[in-house]
Amino acid sequence: MSSHAPMPAAERLAEPMRSRWSPSVFDARHRLTADQLGDVIEAARWAPSWGNIQPWAFLVLERDGAGHDVLLDHLSRGNRSWVPQASAVVLAAAKVAADPDDATDKGVKGEAESCYDLGQAAAHLTLQATALGLAVHQFGGFDKDAVATALGVPSHYRLLTGIALGRHGDPDRADDDTAAREQRERRRRPAETFVHAGAWGRAWSPATTGSTR
Ligand SMILES: Cc1cc2nc3c(=O)[nH]c(=O)nc-3n(C[C@H](O)[C@H](O)[C@H](O)COP(=O)(O)O)c2cc1C
Repeated sequence: MSSHAPMPAAERLAEPMRSRWSPSVFDARHRLTADQLGDVIEAARWAPSWGNIQPWAFLVLERDGAGHDVLLDHLSRGNRSWVPQASAVVLAAAKVAADPDDATDKGVKGEAESCYDLGQAAAHLTLQATALGLAVHQFGGFDKDAVATALGVPSHYRLLTGIALGRHGDPDRADDDTAAREQRERRRRPAETFVHAGAWGRAWSPATTGSTR
């Protein structure tokens, strides 16, 4: 499954970061085991969070299971060709306010902080899935409001993404567009364009290490 990973500059990374990439061809016959699903959720559960509030929730939609059809009806055009084949989609939601029906609920730090923490939990889930040899591809292209309403997500949670999980499929059995998505070169901005050294605007590079002391 790793024809696109590791990328040359990723060779020094530890596993499973080195092998992670976002495949678009999933094996539509594959099913996740209870242990696999349990392990990826456990990884999310142990993610760090601000004040240990753990302001996240996940909704597991197994292919052919309850709720899955609802998601498929609301996928963006670009995601319709590949999301349905994944063995399961884990929808990820950030808790953005206190439960209005629970007087003991202390609420959250703030919406931005909750989204930060959810992203971190999703990253943990993604890396655990990669370590298990699963294909995993996050996606935001779906009508979140419609899915949240149809599946009963309460209004103090904000549905943000789906995480498709499964086994990498055979690109030769996929349609041309979907197969081609996997051939796209994986690019990243150079670190110098987004890492600053000592003060904002002073480009960082590994060579600046020690020079700002
Ligand atoms: C929050 C989020 C939303 C994304 N939405 C989509 C999406 O709707 N459709 C899609 O094909 N990929 C989506 N992706 C996957 C990214 O396009 C992908 O991670 C990026 O191109 C880098 O490729 P890589 O994961 O193989 O390194 C999303 C990723 C994240 C983190």
